[in-house]
Amino acid sequence: MAYEPKPPVIPTNRTCPFDPDPEYRRLREEDPISPVAFDIAPGRDDGWLVTRHEDVRAIMTDPRFSHRAELLALVASPPFEVEKYEPQPSGPGSFVRMDAPDHTRYRRLLTGFFTVRKIQEYEPTLAGIIDDVLEEMAGLEPPVDLLPAFVQKVVYRSVHSVMGVPEEDIAELDKHFSAIMRIDYTLEEFIEHNTALDQTLARVVKDLFAEPNDKLLGKLVKTGELTEEELSNIAWITIGGALDTTPNMLGLGTFALLEHPEQLEKIRRQPELMERAVEELLRYLTISHMGASRVALEDVEIGGRTIEAGQTVVLSLPAANRDPEQFEDPEVFDVTRPSRRHMAFGFGIHQCLGQHLARATLRIGFQKLFDRFPDLRLAADPQDIPLRDKAMHYGVYALPVTWG
Ligand code: HEM
Repeated sequence: MAYEPKPPVIPTNRTCPFDPDPEYRRLREEDPISPVAFDIAPGRDDGWLVTRHEDVRAIMTDPRFSHRAELLALVASPPFEVEKYEPQPSGPGSFVRMDAPDHTRYRRLLTGFFTVRKIQEYEPTLAGIIDDVLEEMAGLEPPVDLLPAFVQKVVYRSVHSVMGVPEEDIAELDKHFSAIMRIDYTLEEFIEHNTALDQTLARVVKDLFAEPNDKLLGKLVKTGELTEEELSNIAWITIGGALDTTPNMLGLGTFALLEHPEQLEKIRRQPELMERAVEELLRYLTISHMGASRVALEDVEIGGRTIEAGQTVVLSLPAANRDPEQFEDPEVFDVTRPSRRHMAFGFGIHQCLGQHLARATLRIGFQKLFDRFPDLRLAADPQDIPLRDKAMHYGVYALPVTWG
């Protein structure tokens, strides 16, 4: 029988491309820690969906909640029968699904590459990459799809220049990452893309060990602290972390700005608003629409509920970022909004490692794109833009634009 992917266990039906499922609003008001029945769970299949900003933030900083891969129930089912699911601990180096102190040991090797200062020093290189890409785009005959013409080139070249992995390998990795980050793939597709991903990474890492370069991954080799397997897993989460997120924010963010011309006009008149506009886009669009999951290591009382040991909680970042307790008129996209308390990059020890790089890419990217193409506009009916609603990170699969 043909494989039928199950829908995720949390609400994902959108009525507007920029808003999360309206059900989150009801849950946040009426049942902010609401029961969830997981299909795929290593321990208990009963758990919770958390929708208030305050509760999400509290759980993300509470060491009684774990992020260990082998304990977590899954929000979206993998493409095989439930009985065959055997949760495994994360491989060495794959620190995103580890707790302290294992997580700390790996993360501390990387933090120095992504500090605010390091990214400020990198900005001229990034601006140069963006100028080059825009120059190439200006040579194309509109209409064009903004994803290959601008978004992907910018991100591939910047990941190349930060990580020290050849650009053609980044493009190859992206093809496979975006396939396995879907939640509606078939088992055959998963095996094909996952195998190709592992093979490409293994080759990239072997080359780096043979001849370490002066970029991030080469420098990690030179520390002498990591095995090939560890470096390969670190490359997986950092390159994958960058490829599945910033392009979605650039693509969906451009779509949102074009659909809110009055907000775009405000940025045009006051370019210094761009920094706030990026924070607001991150909040308003919150592309991590499957949220962040954690598992309770002991019984925890929160918001009048008892989360029992072994239960998984799904922390809805989109719902938390629309919480009226935190944000005035949260449903309104307002580029002048001063608040930076959004959790689009998570919170606590797993807070996004690449957040300053992502912010710089979005700020300089939008600024230069709209400067270079002041009359940029959609070349399709907004309703026809293909949305990534069946993927771990939300965004657009294509954005036809025109100018001139
Ligand atoms: C707009 C772009 C981005 C968004 C919205 C985003 C979002 C997030 C979120 C929500 C988390 C926390 C997940 C959790 O707690 O369960 C996270 C973690 C992470 N992100 Fe990002 N991210 C972005 C860009 C990047 C970039 C450019 C990199 C490249 C280095 C990156 C690498 C990582 C890594 C390695 C982690 C795991 C950190 C840890 O566990 O300590 N991300 N990201």
